[in-house]
Amino acid sequence: MKAILVDETSPERALRWAEVPDPVPGPGEVLVDIHATAVNRADLLQRAGNYPPPPGAPSYLGLEMAGVVAGLGPGVTGWQVGERVCALLAGGGYAERIAVPAPLLVRLPADWDFVKAAAFPEVFYTAFVNLFMEAQLQAGESVLIHGGASGVGTAAIQLARAEGCRVAVTAGSPEKRRRSLELGAELAVDYREEDFAAAVQERLGGVDVILDISGGAYLERNLKALKLKGRLVLIALLGGPTAPIDLGLVLRKRLRLIGSLLRSRSLEEKTRIVEGFAIRFWPRMAAGRIAPVIETALPITRAAEAHQLLAENRNIGKVVLVVRQ
Ligand SMILES: NC(=O)c1ccc[n+]([C@@H]2O[C@H](COP(=O)([O-])OP(=O)(O)OC[C@H]3O[C@@H](n4cnc5c(N)ncnc54)[C@H](OP(=O)(O)O)[C@@H]3O)[C@@H](O)[C@H]2O)c1
Repeated sequence: MKAILVDETSPERALRWAEVPDPVPGPGEVLVDIHATAVNRADLLQRAGNYPPPPGAPSYLGLEMAGVVAGLGPGVTGWQVGERVCALLAGGGYAERIAVPAPLLVRLPADWDFVKAAAFPEVFYTAFVNLFMEAQLQAGESVLIHGGASGVGTAAIQLARAEGCRVAVTAGSPEKRRRSLELGAELAVDYREEDFAAAVQERLGGVDVILDISGGAYLERNLKALKLKGRLVLIALLGGPTAPIDLGLVLRKRLRLIGSLLRSRSLEEKTRIVEGFAIRFWPRMAAGRIAPVIETALPITRAAEAHQLLAENRNIGKVVLVVRQ
């Protein structure tokens, strides 16, 4: 089969669609012919050599895929060759085939194409686990989502609204703020022009939960924006890994600071996330009331161009890579 390889000797770490060995499904795994995958920020980090795949994961880029079941490993029941599926991956999505642990597979509704399905797993599971499992966001509570128009942000807005929560976002352009409001946010702050903590205090009286991708640069304002017993979930450190912290504020407001990564979790934990999402949100996704937001779909051979879109913050929602038509 073919997969995207990173040329570690070239300064720009060029991507090459090249011949590699076929995966063989192990016990409990299902072999899938990949039709589409999608780009995540983590792929850019991995390509740069800064985010190695967890032990045992395929070495190629790609944290999600959609495709067709092509074979079953020993002991797999309940799946058949020819079924259309998608799944969260620990790696290996930028390829023609992948062996996936069976519990992570999701059957596609008849009206879903592979592009839509490939845009679903990583960002919806990330939004779900962090808002509802880690931060225990409740109906009627409020949440601030940084990067509201990002892949994760567009998923998080929809899930929070679907559960009856009030949503504020930050977003870096008028078009991104407009899309965030369309998806259900009631406040979209231009963080370059306005102090988001002050805006959130003024409009919502603070928030119960913050889904943060900045880290250091936003820490002080995030702590200010949280209400009593607020929860701050850190999922990325785009604004740096360090910052002074006012522990008095943490103490007085009884705040919780939660760090969270999805990729390195065990299969058991990922299975609980997939099952939890299936029960709570899948019926609304299958019915089309919640849907992945897709910026564009490009052929896998244009993966470098797709990475550039994310690197320049030009995407609203997901950039999908088509592997087979
Ligand atoms: N922990 C986990 O398990 C997990 C899982 C999935 C994703 N993530 C992380 O979550 C983040 C969003 O992922 P994604 O795939 O949805 O990303 P994405 O679609 O590429 O969007 C990221 C957005 O972040 C904003 N941004 C860029 N640099 C920033 C900075 N220094 N400070 C604040 N905002 C900045 C930009 O939006 P504006 O133009 O609006 O500024 C950008 O469009 C990524 O950092 C990713 O690595 C973490």
